[in-house]
Amino acid sequence: MFKVLLTREIPGVAMEKLKREVDLEYVSGETKLTKEEIVEKIKGKDGIISMLDDPIDADVINASPNLKVISNYAVGFNNIDIKTATKKGIVVTNTPGVLTNATADLAWALLMAVSRRIVEGDKYLRAGKFHCWGPKLMLGYEFAGKTLGIIGMGRIGSAVAKRAKGFDMHVIYYKRRRLSEEEEREIGAEYVSLDELLSRSDFISIHTPLTEDTKNMLGEEQFKKMKKNCILVNTARGPIIDEKALAKALKEGWIAGAGLDVYENEPAVTPELLELDNVVLEPHIGSATYEARERMAEMVVEDCLAVLNGKKPQNIVNK
Ligand code: DGY
Repeated sequence: MFKVLLTREIPGVAMEKLKREVDLEYVSGETKLTKEEIVEKIKGKDGIISMLDDPIDADVINASPNLKVISNYAVGFNNIDIKTATKKGIVVTNTPGVLTNATADLAWALLMAVSRRIVEGDKYLRAGKFHCWGPKLMLGYEFAGKTLGIIGMGRIGSAVAKRAKGFDMHVIYYKRRRLSEEEEREIGAEYVSLDELLSRSDFISIHTPLTEDTKNMLGEEQFKKMKKNCILVNTARGPIIDEKALAKALKEGWIAGAGLDVYENEPAVTPELLELDNVVLEPHIGSATYEARERMAEMVVEDCLAVLNGKKPQNIVNK
């Protein structure tokens, strides 16, 4: 029987299947293993099912000479040293597609929560401050007729753009490689440079992977180019934003608000952000729906087992 390490328990029937088909070592509950613990536990394993915050670097990969597959329970795989894995002939898989709607929904939930001050309003009421209806109470921003800028137009970016149609918005996008005219027509988005996106957007949503190119892509310089009424949402990866610069931009009113699901040094959050009312903060729950997490579990298990059984997995990252 193949030996597999699952670094955190996953939901649904896939977990049972895994237990039946391999010699499984797993961590129950929501305990995060340290890198040293992963190095220790991966010894002698044929496969690992990792989480997006597990650092699967060269030390981890080299700790098990038997390792054949790294299956990441996420669409993003910036936590894995793909180069080392590929050099060693280890297949890396991820879970694209099945969390697209969940993540796009959360991006919209954040856009709405920030623009209509939902969290602030809730706190205000619970604090016993709601004494009468007010013509100037909790004013926010509407979507209709406004411009939504999407950074990165893959599956999730496109799903966010699709939802924008229902809000009567104009969608512009920036991506390293422009889409075909046909794709742009279908999505209903106009291609612009990053600078143009920053200066024209009333709302910005980030949907690009974290790479050396996108790390700290938005900092002081970029926030200064945004409109004062701009609301920025990040459900992709934290380090795409310089978090200290964002806190400054929000505090000094360079932009109107932000909604974050991911953080530069996750799970730590820049303390200044915690003091601000114009930012809504979520604990990385982009794909946290029953549906998405179960589909992710099925996909990650199927792909891990496929590689171990000498079959082609559905989603290979390092082709
Ligand atoms: C992913 O799968 O990369 C998402 O960030 C999960 O929420």
